[in-house]
Amino acid sequence: MPTDLPTALADVRALLLDAPNLARAVAAGRRKGCEPPAAERVEVRPVTLKNGPHLQFTARTGPVVTTRNVPVAAAGGAVDDLLGQAYGNLHVETATEVVQVRVTKKGDAQVHRAPAPEGARDAAGPARHDKAKQRLVDPDDPVFRVLGAGGDKRRQVEAFVRQLATLAPAVLTGDGERVRAVDLGCGNAYLTFGAHRWLGEAARERGKDLVTVGVDVREDVVATGRRAAAEAGLPGLEFAVGSIAGAEPFPDERPDVVMALHACDTATDEALARAVRWGSPVVLAAPCCHRDVQRQLHGNRAPLVRHAILRERFADVLTDTLRSLVLQLLGYRVEVVEFIDSAHTPRNAMIRAVRAGAPRGPRLAELLAEYDDLTRAWGVEPALARMLTPELERVRQAAL
Ligand SMILES: C[S@@+](CC[C@H](N)C(=O)[O-])C[C@H]1O[C@@H](n2cnc3c(N)ncnc32)[C@H](O)[C@@H]1O
Repeated sequence: MPTDLPTALADVRALLLDAPNLARAVAAGRRKGCEPPAAERVEVRPVTLKNGPHLQFTARTGPVVTTRNVPVAAAGGAVDDLLGQAYGNLHVETATEVVQVRVTKKGDAQVHRAPAPEGARDAAGPARHDKAKQRLVDPDDPVFRVLGAGGDKRRQVEAFVRQLATLAPAVLTGDGERVRAVDLGCGNAYLTFGAHRWLGEAARERGKDLVTVGVDVREDVVATGRRAAAEAGLPGLEFAVGSIAGAEPFPDERPDVVMALHACDTATDEALARAVRWGSPVVLAAPCCHRDVQRQLHGNRAPLVRHAILRERFADVLTDTLRSLVLQLLGYRVEVVEFIDSAHTPRNAMIRAVRAGAPRGPRLAELLAEYDDLTRAWGVEPALARMLTPELERVRQAAL
């Protein structure tokens, strides 16, 4: 039965301002014969920020997303602004019920109330927010749809950005007002966008701007990235066509963070070598296939690598171990971690490196011995060492 619209809106207003019981609300659609609302869709969630409970308003129009947090205590005006716009549908989920309001052609409200699904009580209010807050990258970001990112890729981006967040202090505390990030072998730029959105916000909180450059040899993916960045209205997000080995995203300046997600085979080594030469303080690389060392192990009759599948797996381990040692020799503190469950990608290892200063004395000797023992025992020279021959030679000289 239709209800008087102002009464229905007053009910919705009360539900939105009852933050402890609110899970989420969405305003969407357009009332017939009315001016369109400012945004196509607005989602409202309760969030707990450092300075207390807030309502978070996420407005989307096409691929453009804007987010505004308003303290709950002062959110009446923002809620009134929202409800004052001619949305055709309002959907509110609380701890106890789901309320849908549809505005009819005559301007009345068709209200439907249903009990909340099981578990909604736990999902509502700040507890709900704690879960939502754990997401650093919005999986519903329209840009992912524009770029064609599937669920697994979105999860990989979230997991990658989570690793980036753990190293954010090392990325963001540099001198200057501009933070520089580069995504090498960016492909369809899912990570480039996800990282730029998150890091951009983190940089802004510190009064800095972020410039992120995605680099790829493929002109088509770079063109798509550029188009999507322009459509999303994202300042500071740029793309460059070219090889990783020759990339110069910031002439005369070093990137503060170098990222590479699944850059094929030795493209990961190119990314690591580039980062070392730039002297970038933070490097995050989730390698892809490892054919270089695998090829060098071919013909080795040792039982560990006699069978192709074992050789492939062992080559993965040996390659990343040697990459880690090379980076340590060249002044990075390195961890190799599982950044995402293997259900979402079999390539789920990540090299996290933070510039820490060249090793010296017994530590340097130990690292060199570990590197030499492994390469001699398996008769391999990894691509990263070939790319950084002069740098490694200098390290050997320093150890004498
Ligand atoms: C497997 S895709 C991964 C793309 C993206 N990082 C992702 O995770 O969705 C690898 C990308 O690296 C690019 N690539 C491979 N070797 C490269 C090189 N040497 N220089 C620049 N780009 C390279 C390819 O064109 C491709 O787009």
